[in-house]
Amino acid sequence: MTIQEEIRKLKEDKQAVILAHYYVRPEVQEIADYIGDSFYLSKVAEKLENPVIVYCGVSFMGESGYLLCPDKKVLMPDMTADCPMAHMVLKEEVEAARKKFDDLAVVCYINSTAEIKSWCDVSVTSANAVKIVKNLPNKNILFVPDKNLGRYVAAQVPEKNVMLVKGYCPIHENVQAEEIKALKEAHPAAEILVHPECCEEVTGMADYLGSTSGIIDYATASEKTEFIIGTEIGVRYELEKRNPDKKFYFPATEPVCQDMKLITLEKVLHVLKNEENQAFVTGENAVAARKTLDRMLELAK
Ligand code: 13P
Ligand code: SF4
Repeated sequence: MTIQEEIRKLKEDKQAVILAHYYVRPEVQEIADYIGDSFYLSKVAEKLENPVIVYCGVSFMGESGYLLCPDKKVLMPDMTADCPMAHMVLKEEVEAARKKFDDLAVVCYINSTAEIKSWCDVSVTSANAVKIVKNLPNKNILFVPDKNLGRYVAAQVPEKNVMLVKGYCPIHENVQAEEIKALKEAHPAAEILVHPECCEEVTGMADYLGSTSGIIDYATASEKTEFIIGTEIGVRYELEKRNPDKKFYFPATEPVCQDMKLITLEKVLHVLKNEENQAFVTGENAVAARKTLDRMLELAK
């Protein structure tokens, strides 16, 4: 039996389901039942009836999966796969802002630990952040931890006072404006599609700004045939699968999230077989963090 056949058999025997983010390796995306951006995967996880979920992504995704389905076994192929940005805000920063503004809403990007979520009022993803912030009754918003996504949201919601902290995604922050410019010079007809986690100079050059799903859907619907992509290289698999006749150019310094790449077929097979690496969030944090996800799902409707 091939490793793929073994995984499929175990999946069937255990009524398990595999969720995968677009940044994991192509062969892992290929074996998944659901592939998507963080928002899509949260919506799917909440509705699943399978007793076992293998979550191919980084630890905040597993935690969110567990919080949304605490009665299921949420298995992480690699427990060390973590998102550095998910830790980039201090409790003191949140507390100081709460002291200063009576009507403050603390909005956390879903790329945050369950502990950070527990200090906040609502979670958002890159696909729904603008809509949710716009619809909050509060004028004063503290957006954590991603300063880049926060800056993008602030620009779309000028009627609010959106405050930022200093967190960032090292992979998107490292997308170089010079490299995007060079690609545009080489391919002048190409449209530039960028994730809002990129720095201001890069987002300023974009024809379209959006989540990984947003970028894939935009390129698929567009009549253009060439695109310069400012996000992690993993999206190439779905972009090319859906658009075999279109061309996609990535920056010369390829944006690679090493944590997402830790997820391999061997590790998927191992956790399915042994039911190891269960995601857990315990204590008061779990209740408060879950509320931020429920509020997100409610406000994003
Ligand atoms: P989305 O897929 O929600 O756009 O998120 C990007 C990301 O960096 C996930 O870690
Ligand atoms: Fe975190 Fe960036 Fe990797 Fe996404 S791409 S998991 S934001 S480090």
